[in-house]
Amino acid sequence: MVFYKIKKLLLPIIIILILIFGCVVIYFSPINQLVKYLLQVTKERVGSFTNLQPEAQKGANFVGSSKCAECHQEIYVIQSVSMHTKMIQDVKKDTSVIVGDFTTLPNDADFELENIVYTIGSKFKQRYMLRKDRDGKENYRIGNYQWNSENSKWQSYSVFKDWYHDAWPEDNNQIPTSHTCDGCHFTGYMSTQTRVEPGIHCENCHGPGSIHVENDVKENIYMASRHDPIRSMEVCLQCHMRNVDKRLDSLTIKDLYGTVKDYADGFEPGMSLTKYKKAMPFKPGVNDAKFYGNGIGVKNRMQGNEYIQSNMYKHGITCMNCHDPHSLDNTAQNSRGDQFCMSCHKMGSPLGPHQSTLTAHTKHKLNSTGSSCIECHMPKTGKHTGRSPITVRTHVFRFIFPKESMEYGVSNACNNCHTDKTLEWSDKILTEWGMTTWERH
Ligand code: HEC
Ligand code: HEC
Ligand code: HEC
Ligand code: HEC
Ligand code: HEC
Ligand code: HEC
Ligand code: HEC
Ligand code: HEC
Repeated sequence: MVFYKIKKLLLPIIIILILIFGCVVIYFSPINQLVKYLLQVTKERVGSFTNLQPEAQKGANFVGSSKCAECHQEIYVIQSVSMHTKMIQDVKKDTSVIVGDFTTLPNDADFELENIVYTIGSKFKQRYMLRKDRDGKENYRIGNYQWNSENSKWQSYSVFKDWYHDAWPEDNNQIPTSHTCDGCHFTGYMSTQTRVEPGIHCENCHGPGSIHVENDVKENIYMASRHDPIRSMEVCLQCHMRNVDKRLDSLTIKDLYGTVKDYADGFEPGMSLTKYKKAMPFKPGVNDAKFYGNGIGVKNRMQGNEYIQSNMYKHGITCMNCHDPHSLDNTAQNSRGDQFCMSCHKMGSPLGPHQSTLTAHTKHKLNSTGSSCIECHMPKTGKHTGRSPITVRTHVFRFIFPKESMEYGVSNACNNCHTDKTLEWSDKILTEWGMTTWERH
């Protein structure tokens, strides 16, 4: 009898013991920190072309974020303080959105304070949208001076210099924002060619919401993190990645004169982004206006172009793992710090760093800035304008060696801090430390 009871309990007891043992092993193993991401990183990869937009959402219209606020008040409030919502601001509603000092605007400016309809940006630079209709439709042009917020100076701005040289006339006046800017700065413009709402709001990442608003089930609205983690990043890459017009696959820039577009025209979240956009190519070994020859961005908004080169991207670690998609935190002003990197990484873990102590990895003192993950793995390498200081942190994450600076002129972490030292000095120290790779030896 007793034996029978024990026999009946034996299996559950063994299972429980195995579970406890498993938990202990995972807890002490060097990869315990990735366990909470296991569901995410092991999700099935569906490839680039599958359309992940919910069937029920197809054909929905854009309704604007104030509608979403009716039911998602908390997220609305968090999102409304983020820079996304401040990208395009209506001057008529609030003149304080202008950060440029108009008392010093140069005389040859082709606009005045009074003509400005919208401001574009504020944090690094501010440009100005002036009404200039095209083909009888509401449209805008950009003023020929921009305010550089990083050095508080006016500097000239030529869209032509920045954009497809052979596709537009030189005069800013004749280059419409509809083709060059609005897809990434207004809500809804990318897919509908309508300025639903100034700035980046809910539907730019969740797709048009009319059907979900009528019938508020989650099957009616796209949410990036439900699917393949690699594909989930397309909601960010639609804007945070420099691209060329997809039509250039088969046409020439001359064919697209006056019609070329600088954003993923027609894209809605969930669709296959690669069908709408071609990442700006970089030519290994060649420096050009957008890339150093080692794949590092020369300019801002190249987070996507850089991040796709990282092993983190390939393993399914996403922008959203490091940035809250609503508050956008983990910015210079609101940093999650190095502990955050260490929420997945761990000394001696298979994900690296592969030394047993931090100082063995960084060769700097424990509390030194020289031991900060971000300083060495995300050094400042890019600029917001030709005359801006280098303030844009790279998203390639791999270490950029001083040898690469010698070859391409790109900045590197060591010399960003040790400004009084030469590239040869840092290269020599790294060699002494044994921190080199075959390619850079
Ligand atoms: C009438 C109220 C209502 C409105 C308006 C509304 N939602 Fe929702 N939303 C809900 C409810 C309720 C759920 C949860 C549904 C469920 O679990 O099936 C939800 C779920 C969601 C989800 C999925 C969350 C998840 O965990 O999968 C997203 C994303 C979302 N809403 C975004 C939006 C956006 C964007 C708008 C504006 C276009 C919006 N909602 C407008 C009520 C609303
Ligand atoms: C920049 C892109 C972006 C914008 C703008 C955005 N979302 Fe989201 N949202 C996401 C992503 C990505 C997720 C999935 C996050 C995750 O699971 O880690 C998400 C998750 C959600 C969820 C479900 C999870 C949760 O936190 O409750 C809801 C509901 C939601 N968003 C509603 C909204 C509403 C309403 C707005 C506008 C006020 C909005 N979102 C604006 C990208 C965005
Ligand atoms: C529709 C285009 C668009 C989409 C989609 C988009 N962004 Fe942005 N993002 C921008 C623009 C434009 C800015 C600059 C805003 C400004 O400075 O006013 C920006 C700024 C940011 C910033 C800096 C915030 C700050 O405080 O300086 C972060 C971080 C960011 N985005 C992350 C994301 C992530 C993560 C996603 C995907 C979930 C995403 N973005 C999707 C266009 C977009
Ligand atoms: C493919 C999408 C895309 C297009 C097209 C685009 N931008 Fe942006 N823009 C972004 C993103 C994303 C950011 C923020 C990320 C960053 O700067 O690294 C940004 C940042 C900016 C900023 C700086 C914001 C700040 O707060 O300092 C300005 C100004 C700006 N863009 C102006 C323009 C103008 C003018 C055009 C058209 C001539 C344009 N952009 C076209 C995506 C785009
Ligand atoms: C492994 C973490 C990580 C991943 C993944 C990541 N970022 Fe970042 N990102 C950061 C950190 C850290 C900063 C810089 C914060 C600072 O300056 O202290 C940053 C900065 C930024 C900024 C500039 C913020 C500012 O202060 O102006 C933008 C925009 C941005 N990231 C967008 C993205 C996008 C889009 C993706 C996906 C393609 C992405 N990030 C992926 C960690 C990450
Ligand atoms: C959500 C988990 C997660 C977070 C947070 C995270 N990482 Fe990673 N990281 C990974 C994974 C997974 C890999 C891939 C490891 C491999 O290939 O062996 C990786 C790889 C790396 C690599 C090697 C990259 C390469 O492409 O050569 C570096 C460097 C790195 N991470 C730095 C950082 C830094 C700096 C931060 C903080 C800003 C950070 N990581 C935050 C998960 C994470
Ligand atoms: C003083 C600069 C410096 C600092 C600070 C630094 N690293 Fe590194 N890291 C390197 C160098 C150099 C390499 C080797 C690069 C290579 O072999 O490609 C490296 C490699 C890595 C790798 C790749 C795997 C490995 O171990 O070789 C990971 C992951 C990594 N670092 C994560 C981190 C994290 C997380 C932090 C913050 C705790 C950090 N690093 C701080 C310089 C630094
Ligand atoms: C974020 C800033 C920062 C970065 C990045 C950085 N260091 Fe340092 N470094 C420091 C500081 C601060 C000290 C002072 C002492 C300490 O903390 O160990 C220092 C000290 C040193 C020293 C010993 C003192 C001296 O000046 O002779 C050497 C050698 C050194 N760093 C080399 C490097 C190399 C090589 C790299 C690139 C892998 C590097 N550092 C990256 C900030 C930095």
